[in-house]
Amino acid sequence: MMNYQGILTQIHQELSESRPSGTVAAYIPELAGVSPQKLGVHLTTTSGENFAAGDSEEPFSIQSITKVLMLARALISTGRALWERVRVEPSGDPFNSLVQLEYEGGIPRNPFINAGALVVSDVLLDQLANPKEDYLEFVRRISGHHGIGYQESVAASEWAHAHRNRAMVNLMKAFGNIRHDVEAVLDFYVHACAINMSCRELARAFAVLANGGRALGSSDQVLSLRRTKRVNALMQTCGLYDEAGEFAFRVGLPGKSGVGGGVAAVHPGLYGVAVWSPPLNEKGNSAAGIAALERLTDLTGASIF
Ligand code: DON
Repeated sequence: MMNYQGILTQIHQELSESRPSGTVAAYIPELAGVSPQKLGVHLTTTSGENFAAGDSEEPFSIQSITKVLMLARALISTGRALWERVRVEPSGDPFNSLVQLEYEGGIPRNPFINAGALVVSDVLLDQLANPKEDYLEFVRRISGHHGIGYQESVAASEWAHAHRNRAMVNLMKAFGNIRHDVEAVLDFYVHACAINMSCRELARAFAVLANGGRALGSSDQVLSLRRTKRVNALMQTCGLYDEAGEFAFRVGLPGKSGVGGGVAAVHPGLYGVAVWSPPLNEKGNSAAGIAALERLTDLTGASIF
């Protein structure tokens, strides 16, 4: 049995002594006040064992990590039709870029850039009877934690500064790829991003993706094996935007970042893991989060490669 606890303790200690530099996201003002010192890591194995270090129990804004769970939820009810409205190729551009959308006819490159997640939001508004309540219920089910909720102050803060995202929804609506009211799509999206979860809760949700889509310790098949494969493949190729190649090169696991400083990753068959450190690198991904996961696959000697 791998000594995950020893490895996480070592990673936490190394990063406490010296951390790659970065800047806490400020374009959503409510996120700017989070302490840059926070550092947590939690690993949940597919057999349900837990290992942790640092601020692993403290909830933070999951931001774009939500896009993985939104995609999973949308795939349950939509299947193939979704891929006519959003593609599955890496964009090579920043998460909030608008440039490809114009010359690619309003079809986003993938579901993890903002444009793609906004299309998935539009799809979920069709699928879910009570979109915000039902989506939250799904997040609670996949993570096995029932106290998870929205942080309204973060949703409101993003809403008031969502000029780029609003531009994207409008552009896609002009192309016929958004069915609902622009403000309704944005309202759902900013709420989905404003879910608060701890590393512990995220690691458990991502352990389901490591477990072929089955909830831990139960027979609940949350997501089919085939859809789980696809969600993981998209994380591998698109989860860190224009840093997805570097993340594969350094870490070697499918993963997803968020501007709240979280990074969650999956080692299929073995574990889900989440790291939280708010300062972001120039690509908008947690600098220490990536460093921690790189150390994890180095020290365990195991990645998907
Ligand atoms: O739409 C936004 O800009 C944010 N709600 C989420 C962006 C994000 O987390 C990008 N990830 N690194």
